Amino acid sequence: MDPFLDFTQALHKTARSMAGPNTSDLMEKIVSLCKRRGFIFPSSEIYGGLNGFWDYGPLGAELKKNIRDRWWEDMVRRRDDIVGLESSIIMHPKVWEASGHVGGFTDPMVDCKTSKQRFRADQIFFSPVVIGGSTAGYVSVLESEWIAEELQEKAEALKRKKAIQGKLDPVQPRDFTEARPEEIPLVPSPATGEPGSLTPPRAFNMMFETWVGALRDESAIAYLRPETAQGMFADFKAVLDTGRVKIPFGIAQIGKSFRNEITPRNFTFRSREFEQMEMEYFISDQDDWQKWHRYWIDWCRDWLLSVGVPESSLSQYDHPKEKLAFYSKGTADIMFRFPFGVQELWGIAARGDYDLSQHAKFSGTPMTYFDEATKRRYVPHVIEPAVGVDRIALAILCSAYCEDQAPDEKGNLETRVVMKFHPRIAPIKVAVFPLLKNKPDLVAKAKETRDLLRPHMTVFYDEAGAIGRRYRRQDEAGTPFGVTIDFETLGEKGPELKDTVTLRDRDSMKQERIKMGDLAPLLLEKIR
Ligand code: GAP
Repeated sequence: MDPFLDFTQALHKTARSMAGPNTSDLMEKIVSLCKRRGFIFPSSEIYGGLNGFWDYGPLGAELKKNIRDRWWEDMVRRRDDIVGLESSIIMHPKVWEASGHVGGFTDPMVDCKTSKQRFRADQIFFSPVVIGGSTAGYVSVLESEWIAEELQEKAEALKRKKAIQGKLDPVQPRDFTEARPEEIPLVPSPATGEPGSLTPPRAFNMMFETWVGALRDESAIAYLRPETAQGMFADFKAVLDTGRVKIPFGIAQIGKSFRNEITPRNFTFRSREFEQMEMEYFISDQDDWQKWHRYWIDWCRDWLLSVGVPESSLSQYDHPKEKLAFYSKGTADIMFRFPFGVQELWGIAARGDYDLSQHAKFSGTPMTYFDEATKRRYVPHVIEPAVGVDRIALAILCSAYCEDQAPDEKGNLETRVVMKFHPRIAPIKVAVFPLLKNKPDLVAKAKETRDLLRPHMTVFYDEAGAIGRRYRRQDEAGTPFGVTIDFETLGEKGPELKDTVTLRDRDSMKQERIKMGDLAPLLLEKIR
């Protein structure tokens, strides 16, 4: 697939890849708001964009920073048992041999020889079309929430097209990795709708390679990290030797990861460059890992609620035992209902002692812990909550998007787009508006208010346009509070109202008059 994709194409593709009646509309609206208001746009857009890479604009950068800061505060600073780490993005290549990424970090890839498009085999779903007991052909679709429904529709269309009489059996969806060799030429390509052009699946390693130093030979090959987790394992001993930690304890890190995804899609959901927030929680090999696994699942869920992700959009998926990696004791994903389907948001894995043992084996450095109390030395086990900052940002953007009705300047109801971010996570906490920009006293007072609040929170000062328009712009930015400086503030409508302002609530649009001096403490209480 052409890695270069302009934004219009990306937008169209994003919307198209989301089947279902209203959800593609919703996703299209969210993507377009993100661009219009400066949350997210395609990387290097002036050159047509680069598929799987995204830039965060002024509001997006604030949103992401708030997510990171909140997580770091809750995960590291407010706890005694977790310390932070910032390891390098490029590590010794042996790290990735030990972790299994060089040998096994692959996705099954399929090419369409006609369209030259590339797919992940486990994202193509197909079924034989069985009419009156015989197979009349095959149908295929790309992964969505409506796989069976879409395949059934296509099967009915094939029956009509071939004018075959008889009873059509319900479709039996399988993914393309499960296709038998004789079925591969019969499955239509999702790109052309015709059979015969799909190659058998083959393993594609997703690590980005580079060279370290001046020589570009095999010995200089290194990788951009595909996860931050291995930094914590490789530095386990170094952190232990600082003497600050005792089992059970965790090492947490926020940082960029890179995966050469075969099919980046659904806006930022699956990107090639993204940011992770991961924590490795080391426990005794004799401790009850299930207790800790449950503890971290609950912690992650509560944290999501604390940043405004509604409980009703969340669910839990426990990976079936037979699909777990051989070393894994259990993995649970917290799932989020995105407009394009229910998808993984946060993975919480019980990884046993696999990673530390592998690094001990490959590096020759023992990765053990000595328990002073029991005088026992052992390799700790680990529970790992791993999440993408971009994926949380997308979940928060999707949760926040609302449309309601609000009166325009003439009192007629119009559709209002409002991003109902939790005040704790909102990019801008408060906007300050002078009622009119051509009244120097109003402007001066508004700037005084801005400066009063600025040391405590992100403030946006706006004097351009009618006040109603300014409110709407901040509604789209998701700013929870608006402060208007009017003639009452100047004392022109009575001395008792001097130095009072109106405080507007984004969600209810209600306004209350309060004293300027009360603003900072009142808002601080609401945003913390
Ligand atoms: N250390 C374990 C690990 O990396 P993962 O399930 O591959 O596990 C953890 O990734 C989280 O990182 C995912 O739950 C998701 O939130 C995020 N993530 C993974 N791949 C991503 C991608 N291509 N784009 C955006 N976020 C991604």
